[in-house]
Amino acid sequence: MKKMLPVQELARDDRFWRSNLADQFNDPRVGAQRMKGTFERPEKFAPSERNSAEGARSLMHGIFMGEIQALEGAGRTCWDFTVGNGEDEAPFALKLDMARQCWDESRHVEISVKLNQWMGTDIGEFSENTFLYEAACNPDPVMRLTGVNRALEGLAIDVFNTMKAFGESCGDPVMEFCEDWMLADEVTHVKMGSDWLRRLTEKNPERRQRALEFQRVVDKLFSLGGLRSDKDESPVKLARRFRELAGFTQAEIDEIADISAEAAEETLGAAGVH
Ligand SMILES: [Fe+2]
Ligand SMILES: [Fe+2]
Repeated sequence: MKKMLPVQELARDDRFWRSNLADQFNDPRVGAQRMKGTFERPEKFAPSERNSAEGARSLMHGIFMGEIQALEGAGRTCWDFTVGNGEDEAPFALKLDMARQCWDESRHVEISVKLNQWMGTDIGEFSENTFLYEAACNPDPVMRLTGVNRALEGLAIDVFNTMKAFGESCGDPVMEFCEDWMLADEVTHVKMGSDWLRRLTEKNPERRQRALEFQRVVDKLFSLGGLRSDKDESPVKLARRFRELAGFTQAEIDEIADISAEAAEETLGAAGVH
């Protein structure tokens, strides 16, 4: 089997549609772009909001695509590297963690298929961007663990926590419990990222800096154009307590809050919302 499988070769049948990240970010129907010219803040996920149901459907389809790619990425990390401690190798215990993650992500794919069905969404109704898998193709395993586990699955924690509360406020136990089960596993996956980052770069501060820089770039890009932030009025709120459980220090959580605020200012500020 091929090592380092290029993103173009991922197995998808004809239900799936691929779009690139730039197109998605510039889609006037998506995220903060929707607010352009309206001078209104993005809606929160609440039963009283007009577009919450549609927003939740597209968000949970995006999560479903992310679960597939997280499974593919963790599986590749088991396979792509020889066992060892070099920068282009992976310790055996790390591979075991990734194998456990594959098991969890397959379950999340199944939960997501059923949740999407429950919400009235067909597979492929929204497009797929493959950024998560691309971040999981990095030749250095530490970068994979910071870009995917800490940044993107960190974002998944914020999303699951928000959507669990949304399910609760809507009186929808199916959504509430699906989100809760996925949230519990995601905390473990992010913690694996935090633990391996510290362990593998203990004696190599330069490698740690590179990995943290990669995480910052991904965190900023994926603050959902200002939809995820530390503020109460934000549609997706930074889940501070769960991030603590996932091995983030207070200073690291504050930094993500700052990065998110910056992304919000850039996107919402450009859309005329302050
Ligand atoms: Fe997952
Ligand atoms: Fe995960």
